[in-house]
Amino acid sequence: MDNRIEKLEGIVYQGVDEFQQHLQRELGEYKYLGGNLYFAEGPQRQAFWTENIWLNPIKITFDSISEAALSLRSIQRNWAPVLFTQYRRGMLIQEKLPPIVQKPRPFPWEVPDAPMGAWTLLDAHTMIASPLCTSPFPAGKIEFVENKTDPPSRAYLKLQEALVRARRWPQVEDRCLDAGACPGGWTWVLTQLGAQVTAIDRAPLDDRLMKNPLVTYIKHDAFTLKPEEIGPIDWLFSDVICYPPRLYEWVQKWLASGLAKNYICTIKMQGQGDFETPRLFTSIPDSKVIHLHYNKHELTWIKVAHDAGYAS
Ligand SMILES: C[S@@+](CC[C@H](N)C(=O)[O-])C[C@H]1O[C@@H](n2cnc3c(N)ncnc32)[C@H](O)[C@@H]1O
Repeated sequence: MDNRIEKLEGIVYQGVDEFQQHLQRELGEYKYLGGNLYFAEGPQRQAFWTENIWLNPIKITFDSISEAALSLRSIQRNWAPVLFTQYRRGMLIQEKLPPIVQKPRPFPWEVPDAPMGAWTLLDAHTMIASPLCTSPFPAGKIEFVENKTDPPSRAYLKLQEALVRARRWPQVEDRCLDAGACPGGWTWVLTQLGAQVTAIDRAPLDDRLMKNPLVTYIKHDAFTLKPEEIGPIDWLFSDVICYPPRLYEWVQKWLASGLAKNYICTIKMQGQGDFETPRLFTSIPDSKVIHLHYNKHELTWIKVAHDAGYAS
């Protein structure tokens, strides 16, 4: 290895700006790098409040902008900057790298498999970079082309992001359950895909969705409907506002029933947050808990059937 490149024995965690205290609590011991970047020694720790985790960070020292760009380009094509200092120098380095597209994406969108690296500058001659990251999006961020007229709430964006991260989405005629569906942003996404949606909420959905033949509305408490009353489904979705343990208990019932194939659920936080229940969710086989770019004070649990991989 070039003596100007040093492998770091640890991991870089890129926090969510508004929830950096949550990440600090999850990491315990760490070295603060700047901005929303944290370095913690040793193997990857369980940290949900991140927008990206840099899995194999290296420290690169360089003399010139060209040399910095060349070092990154010699590793791989795709790199996104996460700068908290040396902005101008950082932009000049990025300009010398192959362009990465950061325009809003249509939905559905298949994320390319090519790795997306992340890098930052510590000072004018020192960079930390990681070719492998948990998020497939540049710097952990994605934006979708927005539809400002049809979806009845902006919540549709986080479902689109979750499905793109899962690298799977419902197909025409797939049976979906949307719990806590009102006013209908998620149900709208699912009907756009041609799926059949059973939407459960105490309040009715937007009129246009109530009239949509793909939608069956049930006015009920989602948690007191037994899986057997709904029957087999391809996808279970929940955006219900509730304490995380309540959601976990309900999901356990569905898992035990074997009636649902794929799951996407929002774990809503209150006050100081719940650090235990997300751990319980991640211990469910083949599933992940992540903070989406479009998530606020909430996390998203994703479990998709194994016949397609999904990004962490
Ligand atoms: C954040 S909103 C959902 C937004 C929706 N996903 C969208 O895209 O428009 C949460 C919903 O959960 C519903 N809710 C809360 N507790 C519920 C329960 N026990 N059963 C069903 N719905 C519930 C509320 O009525 C509210 O409409």
